[in-house]
Amino acid sequence: MKKITVSAPGKIMLMGEHAVVYGYPCIVTAVSERMTVTLEESDEMILPPGDTRFIEIILEMMQVSMMKISTNGFSSGYGLGSSSAITVSLVKALSEYIGKKLNKKQIFDIAYKAVLKVQGKGSGFDVAAAIWGGTLYFVTGGKVIEPLHIKEMPLVVGYTGVKADTVSLIQNVAEKMEKESEKMQRIYDAIGKLVDDAKIQMLVGDWGRVGKFMNYNQEYLRDLGVSTPLLEQLISSSISAGAYGAKLSGAGGGDCMITLGDNNDIKKAIQDAGGAVLDIKTNAEGVRVE
Ligand code: PMV
Repeated sequence: MKKITVSAPGKIMLMGEHAVVYGYPCIVTAVSERMTVTLEESDEMILPPGDTRFIEIILEMMQVSMMKISTNGFSSGYGLGSSSAITVSLVKALSEYIGKKLNKKQIFDIAYKAVLKVQGKGSGFDVAAAIWGGTLYFVTGGKVIEPLHIKEMPLVVGYTGVKADTVSLIQNVAEKMEKESEKMQRIYDAIGKLVDDAKIQMLVGDWGRVGKFMNYNQEYLRDLGVSTPLLEQLISSSISAGAYGAKLSGAGGGDCMITLGDNNDIKKAIQDAGGAVLDIKTNAEGVRVE
């Protein structure tokens, strides 16, 4: 019986969230946590339990009607991009299964379309990370997808334990954009500049400078109204414990924060402030057949 398993990594947004929805760049890294999708021959459609909106859209787009699909991997609660990792794995698995090989850009276009259909808005940075892996400089909709060859980054990921609703956070920011468009435009311009500066310093491995840019980025995210008291607490505790810098990662409202400076004092400070430290490595490999 025909069977295929494909896996793709989750992601952590390093810099540039929210602004990237409006045409600016961001930097994202693929992480060691992966989702897998297994396809098996079947005479009926069998879907995995849970939210299958992304899967159903892909099946419709790729005109597949009979298949057993199972998924496995990390919890969707962390905000590490489980939906995009599943979506990308499924597109790759179906293309291999039916013998119609797709290149990375073709996988991106299909998976990103599915994400837009479910979420309405989004930059596609998570889809790109799941496909290309590594660390990417990414511009909205995949206009630029540039792999960055970065030395090992001393990154610690702190989890708030609070599930964020990305779609409503994007919506809140969009409403703010309508009311205060000039101010928001200034914030986005500044974030875009920070991302470009951080890219240069990441490539040379100057973590002190990158940490400073992260702190500035966090100030703008605070201005956008997407930070929370708990995120602020984890961020300030890690900096007091000696981190180069720290910020929330992703839409905000909960999920994860990141901090630069990998040592036990920083990890302990995050735990003491009420967060959990996730054991995550950056720069993971992109989608692959297992
Ligand atoms: O909540 P996350 O981790 O999926 O990150 C969302 C990042 C945004 O920039 C707010 C949205 C996007 O699609 O880029």
